[in-house]
Amino acid sequence: MPLIAVLPGDGIGPEVTTQACRVLEALDLGLAFEEAPVGGAAYFSDGHPLPERTLDLARRADALLFGAVGDPRGDNLERHLRPEQAILGLRKELELFANLRPARLFPGLEDASTLKTEVASAIDMVIVREVNGDVYFGEKGMRTTAGGRREGYDIMSYDEDEVARIARVGFETARVRNRKVCSVDKANVLETSQLWRDVVIEVARDYADVELTHMYVDNAAMQLVRNPGQFDVILTGNLFGDILSDQASMCAGSIGMLPSATLGRSGKGLYEPIHGSAPDIAGQGKANPCATILSAAMLLRYSLGMEDAADRVEAAVTAALVSGARTADLGGSLSTAEMGDAVLRAL
Ligand code: IPM
Ligand code: MG
Repeated sequence: MPLIAVLPGDGIGPEVTTQACRVLEALDLGLAFEEAPVGGAAYFSDGHPLPERTLDLARRADALLFGAVGDPRGDNLERHLRPEQAILGLRKELELFANLRPARLFPGLEDASTLKTEVASAIDMVIVREVNGDVYFGEKGMRTTAGGRREGYDIMSYDEDEVARIARVGFETARVRNRKVCSVDKANVLETSQLWRDVVIEVARDYADVELTHMYVDNAAMQLVRNPGQFDVILTGNLFGDILSDQASMCAGSIGMLPSATLGRSGKGLYEPIHGSAPDIAGQGKANPCATILSAAMLLRYSLGMEDAADRVEAAVTAALVSGARTADLGGSLSTAEMGDAVLRAL
């Protein structure tokens, strides 16, 4: 029986994961669920954002369904105890390095996008973001300069193996889509990016059937709002991918709609909405559960090989939206649970 680790986390995390679990349970696939705390919730219950018992469950599980982490009460904690360390720690500890963030506009959500309908409706891309390296994991700290001034620093680096393995994921992803990879970097300024570009070009030799282009990240940010339909697969590093995926989500209607999968070498994966814990609306039943429900669909597809069940969940979300079901972020008035009901009815 496949074991799903349910890690609700902070803020709206518990509300949205509850709805995703309802959907998974309704499919009656014989899944086992086990819950553990992460993030600020775990810090306040267990004294650490990623307690040993949570890590142990994560290691045993076949897949992880993750809500969100982030709690303003944690902002002044030492960095290694902050809620965000839970997600960073899970990605690193389980060597889940490839974060896939599909962005497309669901039919009926044209008006939710801030872009013109004809621009927004062309959005159908996957951002393939590396999440085990980059400036996120380099040496960092605070120090005092010779002149007695405070200085903060974070070292950005990638080695060639890290770049090559994410590049392969990017090309493989493009192969089952429209065979176009746009690698995003800042090679005009950063050595890390120059190596990134060199290695991506080397790996591309094994993928002659995929078209490779390169774009500087500032231009990519501009192109995402100018003509997002040009992108099929965006391949990029941890920091640029973090920023561009939030931007892409909003172009596609709402950050409440975008799921993600983080994969490694084995079938195990971590599935989470790309949005954060939204402390301002936590506990009010306002959050859109669709991104988490769609993350559960990715879990079925990538970790459990249950393609049909994944298709059913995605079709149910689409049908619920077509029938007019909308949470506040989409201009509607349904609560989190009512949106879950609408998806369940469509299932
Ligand atoms: C994301 C989030 C995380 C990240 C935070 C919570 C550490 O923004 O998954 O996009 O920066 O990777
Ligand atoms: Mg982010």
